[in-house]
Amino acid sequence: MDRRSFLATTMSTGILAGSGAAAATAAVAKTEVSGLTKANIPTPALVVDLDAFEANVKKMADHCREAKCGFRPHAKTHKCPEIARQQIAAGALGICVATVPEAEAMAAAGIGGILLTSPIVDAGKVGRMIELIKSGGHVMLAVGHEREASLLAEAADAANVEVELLIDLDVGDKRTGSLPGAPAIELAQKIARSNRLHIRGVQAYAGHASHTVGFEARQRVSREAMGKAVETKRLLQKAGFDAKILSGGSTGTYNIDSAIDGVTELQVGSYVFMDVDYRRIGGRDGNPVYSDFQPSLTVLATVVNATHADRITVDAGTKAIDTTTAHVPPVKDRPGLRYAKFGDEFGAVTAEDGAKLPALGERIEFMVPHCDPNVNLYERIFACRGDKVEAIWPIAARREFGSTVR
Ligand SMILES: Cc1ncc(COP(=O)(O)O)c(C=O)c1O
Repeated sequence: MDRRSFLATTMSTGILAGSGAAAATAAVAKTEVSGLTKANIPTPALVVDLDAFEANVKKMADHCREAKCGFRPHAKTHKCPEIARQQIAAGALGICVATVPEAEAMAAAGIGGILLTSPIVDAGKVGRMIELIKSGGHVMLAVGHEREASLLAEAADAANVEVELLIDLDVGDKRTGSLPGAPAIELAQKIARSNRLHIRGVQAYAGHASHTVGFEARQRVSREAMGKAVETKRLLQKAGFDAKILSGGSTGTYNIDSAIDGVTELQVGSYVFMDVDYRRIGGRDGNPVYSDFQPSLTVLATVVNATHADRITVDAGTKAIDTTTAHVPPVKDRPGLRYAKFGDEFGAVTAEDGAKLPALGERIEFMVPHCDPNVNLYERIFACRGDKVEAIWPIAARREFGSTVR
């Protein structure tokens, strides 16, 4: 690496010890990543291929526009306000979040139309959501149990704020939410006792549908699940509630759910990056590879040992590539190379079918087995056009667990 590249690397990524976080941040703005390429980013690094990423953002936006269905993409995938901004610029209604710190990070970055899709059942987190609303954040919550509702009502009363919410429905994956139909209407009636809480519709995420392999099977499962949500929304309206929204769906079911009458917005997440897990669910065209969206996310690694003829070692172990699924991360554009876990810091790569092993110091990229937890391992994403780094996007909501005492 020449001196200019080295300085660009160290300044842009804030790795000059002692220069301070503020100085490093200013350096990012000033140098605008000039001189940075995939050859001189410190590895392991999380990289997004901008051509593939932008095509994904556009394809989902175009699909929703044509299907006349809204979309509020899930930021649990990327935790990155810059990506949220681009999704909204493409036409999204706002952004879904899975945690209170994600909501706070998005609101702090000026993102509006936030929907917290997970239940919160403790007063501390409820208080933070109420503070967010009070400070002007445009936020909705999904509520699936009367305990959640009474905590919210109490905090909303104390703070004098109005809270908009969706009834969270368990449409078959047994994860969160009220059972659909009569139990959901009963919950809505209890919620209506508070004049601070305003029901705007329902949320129905069908996790059991999103990764069903085979388009027809997936369609069957998703239609059955979303049918329960459509019916519950109808019952709510019949009972006099202003329930206009039905928010749900996923990357795997976007082209199924957007065609269901009554679904008003999709909560698609993974489509921006894709991953090995999603690629195997199969497409509408019968292709076993689900290729509606392009894999755009990779982990860039360096070969740090090439002593042995039959294998090399790379600097990307379980701290750099999420290996909690059974899938092996494929090496991008290098068929015949095979990754294996080799501890916390390292991975092993072997060659099959006459493929050539990379040399010491060479860089290779791995497709990620599961995008959401992989993003959560990093502080920033290097956004690249070809080999050139165009931007560095902070994963602003990444440091969250244990980051506050409330
Ligand atoms: C509530 C909720 N909505 C939407 C999604 C987005 O799903 P996907 O990444 O499959 O598009 C998820 C993902 O787990 C989710 O939990």
